Amino acid sequence: METQQVYQKYPENDASVLIPLLQDIQEVCGYLPEEEIHHVAQHTKLPVSRVYGVATFYNQFRLNPLGKHLVRVCRGTACHVKGSLDILRTLENELGIKAGQTTRDLLFSIETVACIGACSIAPVITIDNEFHGGLTVKSVQKLIASYKSKSKE
Ligand code: FES
Repeated sequence: METQQVYQKYPENDASVLIPLLQDIQEVCGYLPEEEIHHVAQHTKLPVSRVYGVATFYNQFRLNPLGKHLVRVCRGTACHVKGSLDILRTLENELGIKAGQTTRDLLFSIETVACIGACSIAPVITIDNEFHGGLTVKSVQKLIASYKSKSKE
């Protein structure tokens, strides 16, 4: 679907469509490009600052493209108890970015998520939807190293 078709789905001058409209634009583009934020503002007749405000308030929205590999770190309770914060900090250090960011070379993005339903193997992360459980600081370092070297091939 093109973004043009998304705009056609929603009535103009109606602020109540803002969130579903942004969700659909992100679905099509993978993130919310700046020009689309402006287009959404025009479509809804809301100030650009208000559209930005909503896009930055909700962490379901991304203002930057995702990297080739999306690393999701579970921050649910079971994972937290088993040290998911250490796993997250290790990933952030290894990749030189914070959760919600993408590496400059566009290879990795990190996101935090709530329970992903695999508590029995906590702490858990997914990389490109593949589950990796029972992680330790050492094993997550190894895992990222293997993705980095695979990406160079
Ligand atoms: S809390 Fe992490 S998978 Fe359930």
